[in-house]
Amino acid sequence: TVYPDQQTASKQVAKRIADVIRKKQESHEKAVLGLATGVTPIGVYNELVRMHKEDGLSFKNVITFNLDEYYPMKPDAAQSYVTFMYENLFSHIDIEKQNVHIPDGTLAIDDVAAWCLEYEKQIEALGGLDLQILGIGRTGHIGFNEPGSAPNSGTRLVTLDDLTRLDAARDFGGKANVPAKAITMGVGTIFRAREIILMAWSKKKAPIIKKAIEGDISGDVPATYLQLSDNVEFVLDQDAASDL
Ligand code: GLP
Repeated sequence: TVYPDQQTASKQVAKRIADVIRKKQESHEKAVLGLATGVTPIGVYNELVRMHKEDGLSFKNVITFNLDEYYPMKPDAAQSYVTFMYENLFSHIDIEKQNVHIPDGTLAIDDVAAWCLEYEKQIEALGGLDLQILGIGRTGHIGFNEPGSAPNSGTRLVTLDDLTRLDAARDFGGKANVPAKAITMGVGTIFRAREIILMAWSKKKAPIIKKAIEGDISGDVPATYLQLSDNVEFVLDQDAASDL
């Protein structure tokens, strides 16, 4: 779906999220959401905060799982995805703290694999993700599933691509300060969500959006795996769709 601009698109995505939350509220169920970080979803989070404050949208029945976190990363660091999520969303809504899940960048290296399995189990025990939102990196990564990721991959520790670290350099005051690794949900984890929305805005994303939608399905561009799912919608602004 192509919208004229990212503000309109973000509002539509926020509405879709709110619809899932309200529908679950009607049947007294939890809404299980997969959330993303980066510049792309900020407009969606702003709109959800507005809906909470002005329209009375409650997040009491919402359980969230974030896609990824740098490793190593302290939760209170300015660049952590924990800080990002609280600043842009969680601090401004009525979500219960125990319902928020974000990969733990403080784990001892030997504990990471078991922790990742547990993350998968927690999602499964809740009946899976109702809706997963995604951005896309210029390498074609979703979450931090870099080129070479397998379609059935689970939550795990990965090595970040050079281009990804370059794109993150502005947040860390130089590429050398960007962590070399991250913990990310896998492509398989994302795929099991009942609904997936990938968002992209601006000309900068146009070449990778073209590859993701029109390119051959390949681990070289992990977002191309999304072509295999019937539950995926790409939500774009005109600029991101301009090479299609
Ligand atoms: C990071 C995140 C991804 C995100 C990507 C794009 O690498 N781990 O989940 O999709 O950046 O970021 P942005 O939205 O800032 O372009």
